[in-house]
Amino acid sequence: MTLDKSPEKIADMFDKVAIRYDLLNDLMTGFSHRRTRKLAVALSKFHDGQAAIDLATGTGDFAFLLARKAPNGKIIGVDISRKMLAGARYRLSKLAFQNVDFQYGNIYDLPFDDDTFDVATIGYGIRNVPDPVTAMREVRRVTKKGGRFLIVEATPPLSKYARFIANFHFSRLVPFVAKFLSPGGDAYHYFAKSVEQFPPAPKFAKMIAKAGWSEVYYHPMYFGTVTVFLAIC
Ligand SMILES: C[S@@+](CC[C@H](N)C(=O)[O-])C[C@H]1O[C@@H](n2cnc3c(N)ncnc32)[C@H](O)[C@@H]1O
Repeated sequence: MTLDKSPEKIADMFDKVAIRYDLLNDLMTGFSHRRTRKLAVALSKFHDGQAAIDLATGTGDFAFLLARKAPNGKIIGVDISRKMLAGARYRLSKLAFQNVDFQYGNIYDLPFDDDTFDVATIGYGIRNVPDPVTAMREVRRVTKKGGRFLIVEATPPLSKYARFIANFHFSRLVPFVAKFLSPGGDAYHYFAKSVEQFPPAPKFAKMIAKAGWSEVYYHPMYFGTVTVFLAIC
């Protein structure tokens, strides 16, 4: 089955799950996504005085972690789902960070000059873009030379047994839980398929390099079901 990853389709799907997204994320990962994000943000070495972009920011998890890490840094989160962005802005109003902003933005055509950011992050977002290499080239354009790019993504595990458990988790458990919790529950069938069709970590690392990034490193977590990728501009 070929997945429709057109921006309109993707934005509509995330608009539908936006209201329950954070809860679903916690339940479906058993809260483990929090630890993964913390590792990625530590690897970013983001510090005061720097600028970061969080791509496909959703409800802003990465943006807020970056904001906490560098209270005098500047963070912009971009996304194509207006409702996910509304969720991010609502959380921002509660958390009251002064150094974060959210705006509409498509990863293929970012509304920023070349060499703007010291750090770029994308969490669980690259899987949703139909042409990741082109998207990652655009991210490189807006990143400064020597800047760091952190990608966190659900990846197909390399071991047969871990793959069996992950398949069960994504194709049975996740849609089952999502159906009860989210009005856009069907979207989670899409998520299961998109994880299944995502390249294994070593292959995706090559795609990052193909997009022009260097020193690509990856760190599999949870039996390889999630991978943190780091690359330098
Ligand atoms: C699974 S959510 C991840 C949200 C957040 N980064 C996180 O870590 O929880 C994927 C997000 O990617 C966004 N997205 C998908 N395609 C995009 C694109 N072409 N440009 C920008 N954002 C996109 C979706 O709207 C959605 O909010």
